[in-house]
Order: sequence, then structure tokens, then C-alpha cells
Amino acid sequence: LPVPNIASRLLDWYDANHRELPWRLAPRDLASGGRPDPYRVWLSEIMLQQTTVEAVKPYFRAFLEKWPDVKALAAAENEDIMKAWAGLGYYSRARNLKACADIVATFPSGFPGTEDELRKLPGIGAYTAAAISAIAFNRPAAVVDGNVERVITRLFEIRTPLPEAKPEIRASVEKLVPAARPGDFAQAMMDLGATICTPRRPRCMLCPIREDCRVILSGDPELLPARAEK
Ligand code: ADE
Repeated sequence: LPVPNIASRLLDWYDANHRELPWRLAPRDLASGGRPDPYRVWLSEIMLQQTTVEAVKPYFRAFLEKWPDVKALAAAENEDIMKAWAGLGYYSRARNLKACADIVATFPSGFPGTEDELRKLPGIGAYTAAAISAIAFNRPAAVVDGNVERVITRLFEIRTPLPEAKPEIRASVEKLVPAARPGDFAQAMMDLGATICTPRRPRCMLCPIREDCRVILSGDPELLPARAEK
């Protein structure tokens, strides 16, 4: 299995084709080794749970303008945060946001970088902890969301239905994560799932890892991931 090549082909594709999103660094800053601010990564990942990228963009910008860092958010009134969140839905996220900011504002070095420490914070589960650890701290965390599950089950033709396949998917991602650029790798997987390896009518002709993809050769990508019958 040519695993090292999968990550490098994906990163080359990401360098040329990544989406420019308000919570991502400008390409020039990334090229000079910059990392995104953990506060921005955290805020965007919380907003992106259960909400689409397009819907999140204006809210993310408004929050940053009002509260540019975690101390500012901790100092805000709960009511103002709830008002700014109005329309995004799933309001427990906004309550957890404030609770998390209150705690992190007391940490001298701000957001912690390990998944274990991040998971102790309100509103941060396994996915969000991995995303922050990889994207903001460049640690080799396996970031697995629905997009990544789709890419991985197709790439390795994992026919075990979800949720049973989750451990196998996670193990596959752990093997793929490149030591040098785990944060970009995580976002490359998300972008691939969102723009190429889509649930319906995936654009396999444009996929940077189609030569590695098992399901292209032997089947129909739309049938994966399989889901357990209810
Ligand atoms: N969905 C969840 N997190 C994301 C991110 N960092 N970039 C794009 N889409 C996402």
C-alpha cells in the first residue's frame, strides 16, 4: 500500500486547490511556516459542527470583530454571545463556547495543544480536540468527520457499515497522517470530501488520489460508506 504517497499527493493538491476560508491563514503566511491562532481554529470548529461552511462564514467574521481573542470572549456578556449566535442553531454550542472561554482565559498559555487536555474543556469532543490539535498545533492527530469517513471507506474499500467501521477508519487515518503537515492533511481530507469525494456523483476524474482508490477500480463509490440497516 503506497501510503506515504497518498498523503503527499493530497498535500500537493491542497496547496494548489484549497478553499480560502476566513479561519485559514493566507497561503503566504502558511508558506512561511505560520500556524493559525488556536482561538480562531476553536471558534470555527465549534461553529462548523452541524452548520455548513457558507452559513458559518459571516458569523465567524462577526465574532472575531466583536471578540478578537479568548479573553475578550470571556469578558463578554452571555446575552451578547447568544445574540451574536442567533440563527446558527444548536444553542448549547454557544453556552459551551462561553464556558470554555472562561476557563481558557485563566490559562497563562491559552488553549492547550494536546487532545487529552482539549477534551476536558466544555463543548470540545473527540473530533474538535483532534481538529484543534492538528490544525492549530500541528500535532499528528487523526481528524475524522463525516467527510473523512467517506473518503477513507472509498479509498480502502471498507465495506463494513457505519458505525461499526469507525475503529478501522480511524486506524487508516492514523496511518496516513504525515508527520510534517498533519494540520494541512486534516484540512485537505475535509476539502477533498467536500469538493471531490462528495456523497453523490463524486468527481473521481479530478481526484488527486484516484490511482490509490480501491473503490474506483472495483465498484461504485456512491455505495460507500455503507450504513447499518435500521
Ligand atoms: N469543516 C469542519 N472543519 C472544517 C475546516 N477546518 N475547514 C473546512 N471545513 C470544515
